[in-house]
Amino acid sequence: MSGAAPAIDVHDLVKSFRARKVIDGLTLRVETGEVCGFLGGNGSGKTTTIRLLCGLLRPDGGGGTCLGLDLLTHGPEIRLQVGYMTQQFSFYGDLTVAENLEFVARLYALPDRRTVIATALDRMGLTDRAGQLAGELSGGWKQRMALAACILHQPRLLLLDEPTAGVDARARRQFWDMIHELAADGMTVLVSTHYMDEAERCSRVVYLAGGRLVVQGTAAEVVAQAHLVTFEAIGPGIERAVRRLRDQPGVETAAVFGQALRIAGLDRAALEAAIDRLGDPALSWQEAEPRLDDVFIHMLNTQEAAE
Ligand SMILES: Nc1ncnc2c1ncn2[C@@H]1O[C@H](COP(=O)(O)OP(=O)(O)O)[C@@H](O)[C@H]1O
Ligand SMILES: [Mg+2]
Repeated sequence: MSGAAPAIDVHDLVKSFRARKVIDGLTLRVETGEVCGFLGGNGSGKTTTIRLLCGLLRPDGGGGTCLGLDLLTHGPEIRLQVGYMTQQFSFYGDLTVAENLEFVARLYALPDRRTVIATALDRMGLTDRAGQLAGELSGGWKQRMALAACILHQPRLLLLDEPTAGVDARARRQFWDMIHELAADGMTVLVSTHYMDEAERCSRVVYLAGGRLVVQGTAAEVVAQAHLVTFEAIGPGIERAVRRLRDQPGVETAAVFGQALRIAGLDRAALEAAIDRLGDPALSWQEAEPRLDDVFIHMLNTQEAAE
């Protein structure tokens, strides 16, 4: 994508609510065509950032561009080219899927509404449900309808705010297949999520804490930068062992995944000492590759400790 202007290029953004800084010097660049995962604990400032990016909120400091347009002066133009899917479902439950899309198409004063809506329905696999009331759709279908509504006006950038929260695994995967199809057509996507499998499907992730960007990179880069050490054990009694390990110094996370007990921390010697103290000969331990979820739990813990 060299040569193309970045889709998002903002620097030093600051935003306070009632004298409390919730965005605290945020610098973020997203290249055209990227699927960028926007991660961070609750209250870290993801939604506020998204609202700043499309000019719905005005920053107290900093600035930059979205789709080459100035945040401070070109909010309305930015919004015409951005598809924003809000965290809360914001459509009419007592209108059908097609009627909701019709409503949005009229808001944008789109020409040839019938074709535009039929295309969006088809693209999102919603054609068979066009006549169904939106309020009666399952979570997954509701989110598909919301995505269809976001792309009606052919935006160049999608801002998706936790689009798959509360949606089942299969529907989440299908939703992500659609995100990738849109990206293949040249759409840039910034998508907030708490799901690590989704973060792994992003070309890059950025992680926010306390209104600041704390790490960014591909999933593999973020894992490498964290310098976490991880050990796994299998054997009888892992449920009992996990409770004892959690309280040990240096053990930042301890959890059972299926047949394996997994612990992670920054201090290798402390982890090894914790395993020694446990002194359970029935468990067989070995070092494991840290994963993205280990890293994010570690970052959430670090953040909490700092507060
Ligand atoms: N309009 C508002 N007025 C006051 N506080 C707000 C407002 N919007 C967000 N906040 C606060 O800003 C912080 C960041 O919120 P938000 O951007 O929604 O985080 P996230 O989306 O990462 O959960 C939170 O502490 C939230 O309570
Ligand atoms: Mg939010």
